[in-house]
Amino acid sequence: MRESIASAPGKVNLLLRSGTPSEDGYHPLLTVFEAVSLREIVVARTRRAPGTQVRTFVYEQVPGQVNDYRLNRAATDSIAKLPEESHLAVRAARALAPLVAAKWGPSAAGLELTVHKTLPVAGGMAGGSADGAAALVAVNDLWELGLNAEQLETLGRTLGADVPACLRGGWAVGVGRGDILTSLPQADTGEKHWWAFAFSRRGLSTPEVFARFDELRLGTDFDQNPKTIMEDPAPYTGALVPQNLVNDLAPVALQLLPELENAGRVATENGALAWTISGSGPTVAALAGTREVAEKIVAAWRNSESLSPHLAGSAVGSGPDRGAHTQKHLPSWVEAAR
Ligand code: C5P
Repeated sequence: MRESIASAPGKVNLLLRSGTPSEDGYHPLLTVFEAVSLREIVVARTRRAPGTQVRTFVYEQVPGQVNDYRLNRAATDSIAKLPEESHLAVRAARALAPLVAAKWGPSAAGLELTVHKTLPVAGGMAGGSADGAAALVAVNDLWELGLNAEQLETLGRTLGADVPACLRGGWAVGVGRGDILTSLPQADTGEKHWWAFAFSRRGLSTPEVFARFDELRLGTDFDQNPKTIMEDPAPYTGALVPQNLVNDLAPVALQLLPELENAGRVATENGALAWTISGSGPTVAALAGTREVAEKIVAAWRNSESLSPHLAGSAVGSGPDRGAHTQKHLPSWVEAAR
């Protein structure tokens, strides 16, 4: 039995402008992705029986420990009930199956995937897409398929609009469905953005948020040309100012789940520079000047009696983080959970 391990980052959208849907139902976007340090890990192993099998474990951050997580048994049990066909890690493996068969023969052995999640399910942080991105990289490595980054991105695009951003990492401007990317240069200083993330107990489905966005006629005819951002990326790659965090989908998420506004207010009271909704929501992403402030915000959310019943959890993260890559070892918190 051989195995490969890969991880992929989640994301927060620093900018998300959306127009009205095109004929294929998708909305033209102009977005700036920041890959964040909350990552999904996929272990791909060969197995004798054919087909793909998946097991998924969900973790939560240990309060005060940015790099430590513990198993969330209830969330792990509930994700096991979701159909395998909708798991992006499985869909990624299936997308690569013809290449595996072409290289190793039609009777090539099957695949066992183990997915370790630190990102929320249906949270607007691309958790599902990161599973797909990490699985593409792990399976490509396991079966020595030799696909390069561009080929993986092309394949990733067929799995979901956010998969390319999870593969690429860093800061990237997305146009089209948000899947045609141009990377922004990394800051020379290596300085990070610190975030406090509030995960809502109730999830939001991306198609439903977009449908409501259309009902409310919120789509505008904005300039989809990323040129202005490419010429001056500093408003995103430098110290973020509150006005720069723009998300056209945020009013919809806030209308569907009014309690999110409360999480934003508590974040502001505890030192957040700004807050936004990540993607189609419902995760509230509060920008903090330092890791300490981000930890203070997360603690305030946990201790708020009116808010905590609405939250499934919270975490501190930073960005930009690396795109999907293979790694030799599992982190100690995965080993500890065994
Ligand atoms: O590509 P993905 O499967 O992640 O998209 C999920 C759903 O989100 C789509 O089926 C579509 O309803 C909506 N979507 C959209 N416009 C985009 C991206 C996603 O309408 N640019």
